[in-house]
Amino acid sequence: MDQTRTAVVTGASSGIGAATARHLAREGFHVYCAARRADRIEALAAEIGGTPVACDVTDEDSVAGLASAVGDRLDVLVNNAGGAFGASPVAEADSDDWRRMFEVNVIGLMQVTRALLPALVASRDGVILNVGSTAGRIAYEGGAGYTAAKHGTQVVNETLRLELYDQPVRVMEIAPGMVKTEEFGLVRFGGDEEKAQAVYAGVAEPLVADDVADAITWMVTRPAHVSIDELVIRPKAQAAQHKVHRQG
Ligand SMILES: NC(=O)c1ccc[n+]([C@@H]2O[C@H](COP(=O)([O-])OP(=O)(O)OC[C@H]3O[C@@H](n4cnc5c(N)ncnc54)[C@H](OP(=O)(O)O)[C@@H]3O)[C@@H](O)[C@H]2O)c1
Repeated sequence: MDQTRTAVVTGASSGIGAATARHLAREGFHVYCAARRADRIEALAAEIGGTPVACDVTDEDSVAGLASAVGDRLDVLVNNAGGAFGASPVAEADSDDWRRMFEVNVIGLMQVTRALLPALVASRDGVILNVGSTAGRIAYEGGAGYTAAKHGTQVVNETLRLELYDQPVRVMEIAPGMVKTEEFGLVRFGGDEEKAQAVYAGVAEPLVADDVADAITWMVTRPAHVSIDELVIRPKAQAAQHKVHRQG
């Protein structure tokens, strides 16, 4: 019987997801790389010896296709697909942006988890690692759509751990602070490079995708009796959301 450990990483086409897929492959996992942009996940899967699965986590049929590609047994699920759209105050909020944030960060996470749970249970030591955010711990002006969605991620994580307490599946969340990835800010600000870069202005060393991927890989490779329920990871320069050491 093939005992190669398997992992699914959603949102593997860029940033934290792509870095996590690479780290897990280096740890010996066969990684199913899932995202909507097929060309990117095909290139990544070819690089790391994984399997690309084009998947929109907000679409139930698409998620069913992911589950059927994975099959009967899965060791690790990294629910990373997510993001922020817009940064308007509530008084000017765009309903579609809010719906999209809830769809990808909460409903998408639920749909992928629901579809892959039987395979995770079948492994007898499954791990679900949800990528939340420090935005799921606090509030900040202009952030309500994203903070509400990421608080949702955090609460689903806690609920799932209670529901699975007698099952062989651990449920974990990583909550990163400021991570400088290529696309997160561009997606949030509709392609506005200046606004995207302003977030990191003067911060000598924000976290990068590899820092978060390294932490995720450590979390999911602890012994079966050890659950890293929650891990907050920030750059040294970010003591809190509103307290960032900027130079120059
Ligand atoms: N960067 C930060 O500062 C930061 C901080 C805390 C938490 N996070 C969280 O970390 C995760 C990754 O962020 P990142 O910085 O790496 O951003 P990113 O580079 O924009 O990555 C987002 C990923 O999600 C995928 N995705 C988006 N919608 C999807 C959908 N409907 N179905 C499937 N995949 C979808 C994207 O791929 P496709 O477009 O190809 O589908 C992309 O691979 C997100 O959950 C984000 O909220 C980021």
